[in-house]
Amino acid sequence: MGSPDNIYESQRLLEEYLLFHYASDDEVFATAGIPYPLAMRQALGFTQRTVAHFSDLSVKRGLDLGCAVGASTVAMASNCEQVIGIDYSHAFIHAAQALQQGQVLSYRRHDEAHHYQTLQAQAQGERERCRFEQGDAMHLRDDLGTFDRVHAANLLCRLPQPELLLEKLPALVCNSGELVLATPCTWLEEFTPPSHWPDADTFTWLQHKLSPHFTLVHHCHEPFLIRETARKFQWSQSLLTYWRRL
Ligand SMILES: C[S@@+](CC[C@H](N)C(=O)[O-])C[C@H]1O[C@@H](n2cnc3c(N)ncnc32)[C@H](O)[C@@H]1O
Repeated sequence: MGSPDNIYESQRLLEEYLLFHYASDDEVFATAGIPYPLAMRQALGFTQRTVAHFSDLSVKRGLDLGCAVGASTVAMASNCEQVIGIDYSHAFIHAAQALQQGQVLSYRRHDEAHHYQTLQAQAQGERERCRFEQGDAMHLRDDLGTFDRVHAANLLCRLPQPELLLEKLPALVCNSGELVLATPCTWLEEFTPPSHWPDADTFTWLQHKLSPHFTLVHHCHEPFLIRETARKFQWSQSLLTYWRRL
């Protein structure tokens, strides 16, 4: 069992992430009469958009760190023979494993107060190529091997010591392999002690840490939207960087 202090073990976050990863656009915006701005619609599909930065080539092995309930992991499997999804949350990995096995998971969308709607999550695509395991991205097991593609979306600023993951990346990504890192740069004391926040802006810090081993191919901003209730959403812009291993 995971620690009850970890918000990513909570039922509320599990349901928010099942919605974020698996709900249709209409399920996200189902509440009648609320005029949601267009920019909110443009922020949907984040778990697929970050993966779309990888090349179209078919490769052997992919790794999705901080995979949550697994939608990006399954998206990576469309042109990756085997993808491992790793997350620290036992609750998220348990759900990802059930979806990988073809189960349909019922969960509740919170509308307001005592009002909930029951929805169903189902993994589409090449789920049989995926495997999920609980683990710590700062202390990965030694026998993971190397990967043609590594993806870590909105993970870095949730780690107590993000530099431990950055230092491990050169050994995880094989020569000429691809790396996608996305982060909304929401550095918070509750996740990362300030002594481990970037000493420069996050983009400069990433370039400094990764440039000896990786070439930065491009960077951009990917918005995402997490629904809390019918009238409260988190809209954020993730800084996405795409790298090639030298
Ligand atoms: C903000 S969520 C992003 C999840 C997913 N990548 C997405 O874009 O929807 C951060 C995720 O990182 C996971 N996480 C936090 N600390 C971790 C660690 N040390 N190792 C692996 N995963 C971790 C959390 O459990 C959560 O699933």
